[in-house]
Amino acid sequence: MTQDQLKQAVAQAAVDHILPFLDSKSVIGVGTGSTANCFIDALATMKDQIRGAVSSSVKSTERLQAHGIPVLDSNTVESIPVYIDGADEIDHQGCMIKGGGAALTREKIVADLAERFVCIADESKLVDVLGAFPLPVEVIPMAAAQVMRRFATVYGGQASVRAGVTTDNGNIIVDVRGLKITDPLAMEAEVNQWPGVVTVGIFGRHKAKVCLLGTSQGVRALDF
Ligand code: 5RP
Repeated sequence: MTQDQLKQAVAQAAVDHILPFLDSKSVIGVGTGSTANCFIDALATMKDQIRGAVSSSVKSTERLQAHGIPVLDSNTVESIPVYIDGADEIDHQGCMIKGGGAALTREKIVADLAERFVCIADESKLVDVLGAFPLPVEVIPMAAAQVMRRFATVYGGQASVRAGVTTDNGNIIVDVRGLKITDPLAMEAEVNQWPGVVTVGIFGRHKAKVCLLGTSQGVRALDF
């Protein structure tokens, strides 16, 4: 199977997985990226069975609306049963690196509303230790140099500003290479304290409850 076929398979598996959690009043959380796009397309086939979605990016909002799926303001929703999104890396505890698509802050906001984070990914995303994928961090521009220096001194990471990218919130993304994230919860808590950091792309506090992993043998469900 190609990577695209694996993404479509996990997207369909996600629709089947979330059905028992839903009724016609349900609002679901929708992530961002190429795997989330496959999920949005699969969701369109059952859009009449839900009230709508809370979206994690302008791009996902546009795709949802193009399918006729109502998009609700996150401030009008107190809680959602499920949030479905991809990941750049996921470890064997369900902790993730996210933000390859620069949507990490809104993704974490929607994940925070959700009772259940359903990660959809192909098998290349499953790792023993997070950090081979450059860690994205959304940063307020005037703090960029200080945040990058601090990654070097505290963690020995090499940080750089992602060229040509402005987030949906008007900020920049710093990508940090050379990390071995052996304690995701501790690093998430520490980096989120640094002035100017909006969100670090470690999803430890908001880790996956289940990962639907696309493999050449079919979709595997990993429960955490
Ligand atoms: C966007 C994300 C995505 O979930 C992550 O980058 C995975 O994307 P893809 O499904 O395209 O591999 O965090 O900010």
